[in-house]
Amino acid sequence: MIKTVLVVGAGAMGKQIALVSAIHGYQTMLSDTLPDVLKAAEIWKDEYLAGRIAKGKLTEEQAAEIKTRFQVELDLKKAAKDADLVIEAIVEKEEIKQSLFAQLDSMTKPDAILTSNSSFIPSSDVAKHTSRPGRVANLHFFNPALVMDLVEVVGGEHTDEDTITQLMEFARSCGKSPIWVRKEIDGFVTNRILAKIMDEAMYLVDNGYVTPPEVDIAIEKGLNHPMGPFRLMDLVGLDVSYLSRERRYDLTGNEEDRPAMCLEEKFLAGELGRKSGKGWYDYPAK
Ligand code: 3HC
Repeated sequence: MIKTVLVVGAGAMGKQIALVSAIHGYQTMLSDTLPDVLKAAEIWKDEYLAGRIAKGKLTEEQAAEIKTRFQVELDLKKAAKDADLVIEAIVEKEEIKQSLFAQLDSMTKPDAILTSNSSFIPSSDVAKHTSRPGRVANLHFFNPALVMDLVEVVGGEHTDEDTITQLMEFARSCGKSPIWVRKEIDGFVTNRILAKIMDEAMYLVDNGYVTPPEVDIAIEKGLNHPMGPFRLMDLVGLDVSYLSRERRYDLTGNEEDRPAMCLEEKFLAGELGRKSGKGWYDYPAK
């Protein structure tokens, strides 16, 4: 039974997932290799909870209780010791994730469930670096995780049925609407469909038909999506968009799977969206 959760990686997704878990009653640890990132996550959590109190969405008592359940810890070994569930939300690089899963395997209880929030790296790529492939799966949240209700629970051939059952239950208990993806597929469900929209949007820009803001107006005003594809890439991070396409191209070798020119330019210039202050749009520091 899941009572204690460890989230590894305190970036945009990790910190929100950790707070979702703490809000819904789980003792939650958030760990990162960078002290500054952990410190920033703590400040963000305090500001977010203060904002919820100010909005009348939480009482002072509820916020104080949530804070007791949300802890940050630099030392991964300490953070991992009591975890029943680990959610990895670190950089989207396969080798780095594989080495983390090998470490987690030796640091956690033998029956702890180890999951990855990766947008596109299937858990079979990391499960083979552990002694417990049956307890390894993808648990994929959407950005911003505090708001978005969907969670994709993705099992590979290696994943036990009990692991899937516990993850579906965990997601439901966090107020989410999970779906069970029964076989691994690159990009899972939502990102496969989203990628088609984004790729077409970038094709239209690369070929001079429209500008990014014009595509966003079309999709927001013509299809009523809350955000057009470029605004959404800025929210999610252009590194995520670029690296997923680079991986797709490496896997298939198909020219149409190559990252779009306009995306490559932004990625190489370090213009990664909101997190870097500039992407398709500018985000002046507050
Ligand atoms: N963090 C926490 N809460 C946030 C937030 C954030 N970054 N942004 C908005 N919110 C909350 C607000 O506090 C507010 O909550 P309340 O109603 O309870 O007070 C609520 O969301 C609505 O916020 P706003 O009125 O300020 O803004 P919008 O109505 O414009 O909503 C949005 C903002 C929810 C981000 C909306 O624009 C949206 O749904 N955008 C699309 C997001 C999306 O598609 N995400 C999926 C991306 S793909 C992905 O993540 C997969 C990955 O693998 C790449």
